[in-house]
Parts: sequence; structure tokens; C-alpha cells
Amino acid sequence: MEIIVCKDYEEMSRKAAELSAEGLRQHPDGLLSFAGGDTPLGTVHAFADMVNKGEVDISRAHYVSLDEWVGLSNTDEGSCGLFNEREFFARLEKSFASRHIINGAAVDIEAERDALNAYFAAHGPLTVSVLGIGMNGHLGFNEDGVSFDLDAHIIPLSDTTKRVMSKYFGEKFHPTHGISQGIRQIMAAERVILIANGAHKADIIRQAITGPVTNAVPASVLQNHPNCYVVLDEAAAAKL
Ligand code: GLP
Repeated sequence: MEIIVCKDYEEMSRKAAELSAEGLRQHPDGLLSFAGGDTPLGTVHAFADMVNKGEVDISRAHYVSLDEWVGLSNTDEGSCGLFNEREFFARLEKSFASRHIINGAAVDIEAERDALNAYFAAHGPLTVSVLGIGMNGHLGFNEDGVSFDLDAHIIPLSDTTKRVMSKYFGEKFHPTHGISQGIRQIMAAERVILIANGAHKADIIRQAITGPVTNAVPASVLQNHPNCYVVLDEAAAAKL
């Protein structure tokens, strides 16, 4: 793991976008994935700017979303899909060769999971995976206790995630499950970039990076990834 401590959120976002672009330049026909949530907002904006300025070419590359709340689609407020549409695709002046956004509102959610695995079979493995970290150490919706051997799957949300989730959609929606890329797909990525900012992430970052590799803290599995960057602001790095 290479740990990069940045002075603030802006610098973290710029660094993560640059590392993403560098990874994609090595494989211009590769597969890119960005987490949703608050953390990657600046990163996807910075990456979209780089694309628009011609600093990285996505015309032959593919894009896949990381995860989604079961019950929500890419038109629902608070969904990961809407994050992708609004914060990323709407800003891009160029198009990926193809993209796959998980539909958590699919009537047949198992078929949706299978479609995600099929997309990986066609365009994977990931070239660049940009991840956030949940307060319980989850990656995507790989919640504590998850098997590290899974590909895409549907999983009950942990109590911690249920506590935190109201920040995305208030009291309007109470999801019970997530659908997510699996740890196996994340660990097969050529380059993983884990980003975190803010003092509230300092404890879980310490556990994930300096604690034992355990599915009790899923992000700790990244200690075993051969090409993983951890890009933090000073507050998130404070307990390392
Ligand atoms: C969410 C998402 C993850 C995200 C994480 C952190 O629930 N499922 O993909 O990385 O939790 O979110 P945030 O960046 O808002 O703290």
C-alpha cells in the first residue's frame, strides 16, 4: 500500500483523479469504477475536468458503477446511480465506449447481479477502482463479515450503514440491502485507489491500514493488494 497524505480535501481529490488518469492511460481500453457517496465528489469532478481538457482519453474505456441501494435506481435522490449521472456523466463532454450502472430498483435483483458479473466478464478486470470507506470499513456494500471470495452480490446492510444512510436520503427511504461489486472483483483491479477525508474516518482508516486483515473490517483486505494507493486528507490520516 502506498499511503499519500494530502493537506485537504481538494488536494486529495486532485491526487486521486491524477492517479486514476495515470492508470487508465496505461490501458486506454480498460474498465474504470468510482464509488458513490460524499468522499469521491471532488475526485469525479476533477477526473471529468481532465477528460474534458483532453488529458485522459475515455473513448475506448468502459465504466461500471460500484454499488447501489436495493430499491433505488439512477433517478432516485441519494442513489449511487444518480451520483454517477449527475456528478460524472453530466459533466463529461466525451463518452465512454460503454457503461453499466447498477439498477437497484430492478424487479429481478438477482438478474441485475448476474448482469453486473456479465459486464465484468465482457470488460473486466477493473483497470482502476476508486473506493470510499464506510464507517464500518465497508468497500461498496461489502459489509463487515462479507466473504472475500464473492463476485457481485446482494447483501443485508449492516447496522452501522443503516445508521449512516439517512445522510443520503433523510427519512424517505429505509433500504435493507445493497447490491455491490464483490471483493474478488475489487482485488483483481490493476490499481485500487482508496480515498477518505475528515476526522470521522480516522479510526476506521487506522483499523483498515494498520490492523489485521479481517472481514470484520473489509477494507483491510486492501493490505494484500499489490497496487493500492490510499489517498487521505490530514484529518483522516491523523490516527496512523
Ligand atoms: C456508502 C457506499 C460506499 C461508499 C461509503 C462511504 O454507503 N455504499 O460505496 O464508499 O458508503 O460513503 P461516504 O463517502 O459518503 O462517506
